[in-house]
Amino acid sequence: MAQLWGGRFQGEISELAWKFNASIYFDKRLIAQDVCGSKAHVKMLAKQGIITQKESKQIAEGLDSILQDVLDGKLEITDKYEDIHSFLESNLIDRIGDVGKKMHTGRSRNDQVALDMRLYIREEVRNTADLLYNMLKTLNKLMSENIHTYMPGFTHLQKAQPVTLAHHLGAYFEMFKRDSRRLENIYMLMNFCPLGSGALAGTTYPLDREFVAQQLDFFGPTKNSMDSVSDRDYLIEYLSALSIIMMHLSRFSEEVIIWNSNEYGFVTIDDAYSTGSSIMPQKKNPDIAELVRGKTGRVYGALNSLLVTMKGIPLAYDKDMQEDKEVSFDAIDTTKNCLILFTDMLSTMKFNKETMENSAIRGFTDATDAADYLVNKGVPFRDAHGIIGRLVLYCIDKEVGISDLELDELKKFSDKFDKDVYDAISLKTCVEKRLTVGAPGPEAMKNEIKGNVEFLDLFWTKTHSPLYPDCQDED
Ligand code: ARG
Repeated sequence: MAQLWGGRFQGEISELAWKFNASIYFDKRLIAQDVCGSKAHVKMLAKQGIITQKESKQIAEGLDSILQDVLDGKLEITDKYEDIHSFLESNLIDRIGDVGKKMHTGRSRNDQVALDMRLYIREEVRNTADLLYNMLKTLNKLMSENIHTYMPGFTHLQKAQPVTLAHHLGAYFEMFKRDSRRLENIYMLMNFCPLGSGALAGTTYPLDREFVAQQLDFFGPTKNSMDSVSDRDYLIEYLSALSIIMMHLSRFSEEVIIWNSNEYGFVTIDDAYSTGSSIMPQKKNPDIAELVRGKTGRVYGALNSLLVTMKGIPLAYDKDMQEDKEVSFDAIDTTKNCLILFTDMLSTMKFNKETMENSAIRGFTDATDAADYLVNKGVPFRDAHGIIGRLVLYCIDKEVGISDLELDELKKFSDKFDKDVYDAISLKTCVEKRLTVGAPGPEAMKNEIKGNVEFLDLFWTKTHSPLYPDCQDED
């Protein structure tokens, strides 16, 4: 055991307590952020004359060499250390001697870990945004290819009115677009640097917090040191954003599963994203979509877990907060994998356009337009609704569609029917006459797709601007 404390202890910690307390098993993921933050800290200490420039340089080089060795597999992060902070400090002292002992001047692990997590999450916010960008791009491409691919639109999972595939996918575009904006908001709120807050009450050293914040591409330092070491709001917001992304992916998965069923046959999932059965040779299952739907629960779980963890913690730092990491890391990995896989599955999926169109023709998706036809001929809407309702019942009995009936038969229900009805209720007319903003008509869709392209261009520029900086040393 190599801990950073011990002076005031006489006995040894129990082995079980040591393991229970340690976070090295999971916070080793923060090594790059810890190095990055520590380098900014010692650079500032030197600038303020608290340590010398030479010492600062020695510490920075020592840290870099430890990180490199870990990355190269030459140095193992073992559970001999309590956490990643202890691992780095102990190894630094081993490498550069007593100078290494100066690194932690004017710093506590409380503000250190608060910084590490912010740096880590900030990067993940951007990574998530990049994955959303790929998803949005895939969706918009499919939209532009399917402006005239007719399919039934559903309410209550019953056929309702005809739409197009472009329109249906456009709904998901909007959802993921909102998700990307949520990430942007999170970034704007969280991008402040907690380092320099000490354990809870700042320090008596003349630290330059603005300088550290600037070096690490933050907008500035956080305001209140007690809040700084105990704030996990940004993480809760991020987990909430991830939960909403998963909710969207899960709804989409559910649709893909339905569309892929034998009964629907709207889509064929590529072999690369489906699996078979050990007993039933004919099976080709949509496991990826099912797993995405299934994994949504664990991301919600992470959000709930952190909300519950935080609700009873008195100011400032308490060890409960260490519980923020495992659930968050799992939720981040899960959501990112789901986004990648779902986007890949979507871009390789085959849409069976004829089946979709035939499905839209059957099932009376033209009934509303038939009623609107009568309204245009002077029948009040409520009466038209009743007439078409009776007509549908008649058709169900005869096992035909409205447009299969001869004009004479139609006239038995209303003398307003004329031969132009067939064109008025054709699938093409039903869709193409819907031209209001947000509707499936081709002109409306083309405008939507154009707007999407503009959004994507702006989104790309923004997420790749200094607003979303990498965790890099400015040298
Ligand atoms: N492993 C701890 C965490 O993740 C680091 C902070 C420890 N601070 C302390 N006072 N023990 O929260």
